[in-house]
Amino acid sequence: MLVSAKDMLNKAKAGHYAVGQFNINNLEWTKAVLLTAQELNSPVILGVSEGAGKYMAGYKTIVGMVNGMLEELKITVPVALHLDHGSFDGAMKCIEAGFSSVMFDGSHYPIEENIEKTTELVKICNSKGISLEAEVGSIGGEEDGVVGAGECADPEECKQVADLGVTMLAAGIGNIHGKYPENWAGLSFETLDAISRLTGDMPLVLHGGTGIPEDMIKKAIHLGVAKINVNTECQLTFAEATRKYIEAGKDLEGKGFDPRKLLAPGFEAIKATVKEKMELFGSVGQAN
Ligand code: 13P
Repeated sequence: MLVSAKDMLNKAKAGHYAVGQFNINNLEWTKAVLLTAQELNSPVILGVSEGAGKYMAGYKTIVGMVNGMLEELKITVPVALHLDHGSFDGAMKCIEAGFSSVMFDGSHYPIEENIEKTTELVKICNSKGISLEAEVGSIGGEEDGVVGAGECADPEECKQVADLGVTMLAAGIGNIHGKYPENWAGLSFETLDAISRLTGDMPLVLHGGTGIPEDMIKKAIHLGVAKINVNTECQLTFAEATRKYIEAGKDLEGKGFDPRKLLAPGFEAIKATVKEKMELFGSVGQAN
């Protein structure tokens, strides 16, 4: 059964580790993430952007697929199905479709409007036992058409939004979706520290997990990050493994063109990436 992300993230915050959110794109992705979480006895969050939602034939299709896998693959670790960077309407649709967690990204609105819309969703999510992620200060780069300038969040605004009763808070601290540019200044730990002090027990979310050096990840967790989002890195490792298979001509040997064979190296590559991240984030063995 899908669960809200609330308990797993409060536990992670108290235990000084982070739960990974891995964005999914199709059946292979979903199966690879779920099986790895089960093998490592780790809680996990499946992230779905609005674009990926459309690609996978709608939120109801995704809920059906994920619930089916939890049962058929005998997944017993805590799993949350979470809308990533949702609009207000998108969040409402996901709640209706059976998601156990949603993000409302109101960071592009003036703070008053972000607070107003987030407050409305807090009420709805609380009444249904669904976890809610809010965002203050946009994440840089582009993800599925959601573009952010990448500013550092104002810690006072973070406190205002955290006090609304959201489950977790994403705050821009110089992080960027996709690959980091050569001249990237790194995460602003000063901002993160200030946000952490003002928001207390609130689990903080680090977006743009791809390509952040290990020492920065560890420091961010130390300063209160309890959820880390990874998307691009699984796409890169999947693409690389698939390219190698085709470049080696394996699709032309025997029945190597069978999609179950063609997609197998990419599937294994996602599993390896998810394992590496769960070990780094410290969530291995934390499912109970
Ligand atoms: P990356 O694609 O940089 O890993 O970011 C993922 C993310 O933050 C999803 O919201």
